[in-house]
Amino acid sequence: MPLQLTMCRLCARSRPDFLRAVAQLVASYPGEIDVVELECMAACDDVPAIMVDTSYYPQVVPQELIRLVQESLHVGTS
Ligand code: FES
Repeated sequence: MPLQLTMCRLCARSRPDFLRAVAQLVASYPGEIDVVELECMAACDDVPAIMVDTSYYPQVVPQELIRLVQESLHVGTS
């Protein structure tokens, strides 16, 4: 089952670096990430916020986003 990455469409689109990181992850792990874009994820004070499956992470910078997703996919771990 793919990892579910949830984000706010409006907030993400105002941050090109964040969107590039999402696109990079999706391209790097085809079929392993299901991106869910909400109109608002009630995290307007913590932008950009994401959910990786059921875990919530506020104010995520692109490098942290990549790290969180890779950890959840167990990339580089056995
Ligand atoms: S408008 Fe983006 S989290 Fe609310």
